[in-house]
Amino acid sequence: MSNSNNTTYIVDLRSDTVTKPTKAMKHAMVNSALGDDVYGEDPTVNALESKVATLLGKQAALFVPSGTMANLIAVMVHCNKRGSEAFAGHLSHIYKYEQGGASHLGGVLLSTLQNKPDGTFEIAELKKRLRGSDLHDPISSMVAIENTHNVCGGKVLPQDWVDELGEFCTDHGLALHMDGARLLDAAAYSGCPAARLVRPCHSVSICFSKGLSAPVGSALAGSYHFIEQARRMRKMLGGGMRQAGVVAAAAVVALDEVAPQLHYSHKRARVLATTIQGLFLPTFSVDVSGLHTNIVLVRVAANSPLLAEVVLQRLAQVCLAETQGDCKTPNDEGVIVKAVCFDSKTIRFTLHHDINDEDLWLAIMKIIYVFKELDAANPFNINNK
Ligand SMILES: Cc1ncc(COP(=O)(O)O)c(C=O)c1O
Repeated sequence: MSNSNNTTYIVDLRSDTVTKPTKAMKHAMVNSALGDDVYGEDPTVNALESKVATLLGKQAALFVPSGTMANLIAVMVHCNKRGSEAFAGHLSHIYKYEQGGASHLGGVLLSTLQNKPDGTFEIAELKKRLRGSDLHDPISSMVAIENTHNVCGGKVLPQDWVDELGEFCTDHGLALHMDGARLLDAAAYSGCPAARLVRPCHSVSICFSKGLSAPVGSALAGSYHFIEQARRMRKMLGGGMRQAGVVAAAAVVALDEVAPQLHYSHKRARVLATTIQGLFLPTFSVDVSGLHTNIVLVRVAANSPLLAEVVLQRLAQVCLAETQGDCKTPNDEGVIVKAVCFDSKTIRFTLHHDINDEDLWLAIMKIIYVFKELDAANPFNINNK
């Protein structure tokens, strides 16, 4: 990939959003037919929306600027009565990272269900928490799930659970929305067509700007009626884009060119995870058996004095000894690895389309070097939990 400055080579594993558009995307962006999409006249957007609807087995789809807007629109359409309630996992993107937009802009009460490590929650818990017709209660209207689940480490939701939840929602008059920002990663991992994964869902969002390398854009899919309402909401939220084919063109290429390659990032994630596990350092652990897709979570031992943030700072520095040892590029540069932390003890490395085998190798050398150094410098009593 990766950005290089005068003295360092940067391997950016912060997110699968850091990718640049491919050559084919740039070509399509310059050469695609355009029109005013608010009038429904952009042929490239129309083509993208039909393609997404077919891919997801839904009647219709809508191109929107971001995953956050796609999720917000879904909540606002499903919860269109004042006093509505939407359920989401406590680790979901909708709850944790969207500024409470559902409440802020939609007037919707977001209620959380305890996520389990696999990204699911107890359907029995949802059942208990559903409101009735008592006049003190809000109106339970929808449930949101996330596939793959980001904070749970890119996990693919067990399909039996999604199917059971879908039945439950239908039986109880609830809409089921899937935040499928990384749905195509779930399809690649499970070998199941995306349309099958989302069959029980009334609406689904996907992002072209995550692992798929497009510069911008998401889509929302559902029934004709749902998308008609969603189109109105998108306009109200300022998401009605005019000659949006410029960016939709890249999204079409993302589906054709990059989606079939997602499994390469999954393989590289596995190489990284197994290497870290193979170091057998008491300070750092990875759940390799729970690794499904492109996100590797490294846990810093709870009783170690070390914090995830300090690990990130160290990965972003190059010391002299590194450039004389394994942690250097063929040009004798040092290597910086960028990552993010989810909390004080969890580091996230995300593999993506712009990371090739050489980048991975350099990142691994650097991570091994830094992890060994920090493990030695931060001794702790493993038994003292
Ligand atoms: C699971 C998930 N949903 C939604 C979003 C929001 O997407 P956007 O950044 O396009 O608003 C993200 C962003 O990283 C995400 O990881």
